[in-house]
Amino acid sequence: MKYGRFDDNAREYVIEDPRTPHPWINYLGNEEFFGLVSNTAGGYCFYKDAKFRRLTRYRYNNVPMDVGGRYYYIKDGETVWNPGWKPSQTELDHYECRHGLSYSRFIGEKDGVKSELTCFVPLGVNAEVHKLSIENNSDIKKSLQLFSFAEWCLWNAQTDMENFQRNLSIGEVEVDGSVLYHKTEYKERRNHYAFYSVNAPISGFDTDREAFIGMYNGFENPQAVMEGASRNSVAHGWSPVASHYLDVELEPGETRELVFVLGYVENAEDAKWESKGVINKAGAKRIIRKFETVEKVDAALADLADYWDRLLATYQVNSGDEKTDRMVNIWNPYQCMVTFNMSRSASFFESGIGRGMGFRDSNQDLIGFVHQVPERAKQRILDIAATQFEDGSAYHQYQPLTKRGNADIGANFNDDPLWLILSVSAYIKETGDGSILDETVPYDNDDSKATDLFEHLTRSFNFTVNHLGPHGLPLIGRADWNDCLNLNCFSKDPNESFQTTENQTDGSAESLMIAGEFVLYGREYIRLCTLRDIDTAAAQQHVDAMVESVKVHGWDGDWFLRAYDYYGRKVGSEENEEGKIFIESQGFCTMAGIGREEGLCEKALDSVAERLLCEHGIVLNNPAFTEYVLEYGEISTYPAGYKENGGIFCHNNPWIMIGETKIGRGDRAYDYWKRIAPAHREEISELHRMEPYVYSQMIAGKDAFRPGEAKNSWLTGTAAWNWVAISQYILGIHPDYDGLRIDPCIPKDWKEYTVTRRFRGAEYRITVKNPNGVSKGVFMLLVDGDLTKGNIVPVLGEHGVHEVEVILGEKTNG
Ligand code: BGC
Ligand code: NOJ
Repeated sequence: MKYGRFDDNAREYVIEDPRTPHPWINYLGNEEFFGLVSNTAGGYCFYKDAKFRRLTRYRYNNVPMDVGGRYYYIKDGETVWNPGWKPSQTELDHYECRHGLSYSRFIGEKDGVKSELTCFVPLGVNAEVHKLSIENNSDIKKSLQLFSFAEWCLWNAQTDMENFQRNLSIGEVEVDGSVLYHKTEYKERRNHYAFYSVNAPISGFDTDREAFIGMYNGFENPQAVMEGASRNSVAHGWSPVASHYLDVELEPGETRELVFVLGYVENAEDAKWESKGVINKAGAKRIIRKFETVEKVDAALADLADYWDRLLATYQVNSGDEKTDRMVNIWNPYQCMVTFNMSRSASFFESGIGRGMGFRDSNQDLIGFVHQVPERAKQRILDIAATQFEDGSAYHQYQPLTKRGNADIGANFNDDPLWLILSVSAYIKETGDGSILDETVPYDNDDSKATDLFEHLTRSFNFTVNHLGPHGLPLIGRADWNDCLNLNCFSKDPNESFQTTENQTDGSAESLMIAGEFVLYGREYIRLCTLRDIDTAAAQQHVDAMVESVKVHGWDGDWFLRAYDYYGRKVGSEENEEGKIFIESQGFCTMAGIGREEGLCEKALDSVAERLLCEHGIVLNNPAFTEYVLEYGEISTYPAGYKENGGIFCHNNPWIMIGETKIGRGDRAYDYWKRIAPAHREEISELHRMEPYVYSQMIAGKDAFRPGEAKNSWLTGTAAWNWVAISQYILGIHPDYDGLRIDPCIPKDWKEYTVTRRFRGAEYRITVKNPNGVSKGVFMLLVDGDLTKGNIVPVLGEHGVHEVEVILGEKTNG
């Protein structure tokens, strides 16, 4: 069952039934100001940091779900309704929510009145703009009353939810014409305020929540709205809000268009005040002026559309399958940009207060967005690398506002350092800009300790070399990619966090996932050394030794082991009762091609197909744990089939897809991709529950109570990895140091597809033909009509359009 449809021309998902199985959300903002908006206009906004600069309040996991947002109430006689259906939930004659690229539009109709609300954050502006049009389609005159509503958060989203003894006394506002200002704590240590404006005279306002809503009413029926009159309240403490009241008189056929702006302004210390106690409003007025007319708003919307045109033009496929095309051309790159902006901080599953930017997460996210915004990718790399320690290890997270490592969570996730090699090499392959390696980057944000970025990579590489266990395999530390495989934790106390609790330090738990990661990115490091004419013999020896250790100590007969535990016992082995086989080491060791010649990769991937695959994707481990295993940690706390315990972790499914492409099995790779690609799951939305336009972190696996049900949508490395799997390994257009490597691995029955790829300033129009019905192998490559040896399209300078024709075949073009 579906709740809407894709509108590919408009690049929108159109939700037609507001009662989706979960709030289906979208993100506004691309730079410093962001909003989360659900299909019923719920959500909140913040400046840069969802924890420290939250503008509007949100109550997670509320009853009912998703209340609180940017609400507009239309009172038409005795009927009160909202353009997005909520919060009043008055049955609408027509409802539509169009989630587009960085904007959402709500179309509601009731009793002959049509409202259209478009919410977006204009480029270069720290504000949400809401364009609201109200049209009288009836044949009688309508006298409507319109109320806006937003509830201010007292900036720090965490203390806002905790410290009521203080909070309920500190709220402060100012009202100036049609602009409602929020200035809590402004007179002391804050230099920022928020405002909510409308470009028309108002008939009234409210800034005190209780005055507007009433002590015993809710968002669905605020007293002021129900009675059709604002209280003109000025908040002193309690809960400051912002609500405008406007009378809207409409003749039949008449439309009224209004522009609301909800923004954020910072003032310099010496420019905070206009007069004693009165904030300097110049910044707000500047923003308000930018959007004083609908024409200006429409122009900003058009700029946003151009921005997305440009970003998406980097890679456009015509595969012949519309679901594949919409994932590759629109929604997957869009989700990649959102994960770039948010890391794992703010979604409807991440409260925005718990986690900053993950070291491993942000490095992996980068491979999904580097082709869209390479300059910003560069900055991101430098920010991440600056949180590395001198020994190569790294803070596991850093805060986006301060760009400092987060001491609460600390370090010791031993996979972390290696991801930096992945992101840096992806950046150079995309841009050709090797100069990034010469950038000076501090350690632990301390400028007195700084080296060039290349040295950071060397220390990343050496961190693994210096932390090997008894089998010559990498020590796992707190955990590797799988945050829940806590082999040194031994926690018995439910009040402890698996992420931060004191670990045993005398154990020798080793990770096969990091082993594969080291081989894969170690080789990448060696390629970078070669580009810099650095002797690679020693590094090569370390990588070769790791390959040997994996073959000797990491092979279980039919698949790769997952780890050795604290006591040196096998994890992920036929010997184990539960958790006999895990996905991560199969993914990383096959991506690294360890033992390919001996058939290990093929065998491991066949075991994955046999033991881990199910209808909805590939589960993380099997059999799932049914009991808590003290020496394994959080993984065994989850009920079987969920999250890291036998869930389908969409993040690591692409590792298997890529592994399959490395041995040429295109039918399998594409089949795996389709099982988890949200557009391909749209028809089962009532089961899947999450948005059909973006990936979720997890789909419940075969051992779960409800297999196929997804959770944790949006902020997941899934976006980046699936992007890489489908665009680079299946469709096979792979940026490399010296050009575009064309190496498709597709289903045998695909006949032809085209990809337009913008790369280093030029446009490559690539047609891939498969007359011989193969999956892999470039038989012939023509670049602008010229026969070209190998499968690399060389960099043909900036500008220009180049025709590339690729014929696949068994015999390759070596
Ligand atoms: C989740 C992981 C997550 C970790 C870090 C765990 O509870 O299952 O997916 O990475 O928390 O916060
Ligand atoms: C989500 C975390 O953000 C990520 O860092 C981790 O690798 C996965 N969960 C798996 O545990």
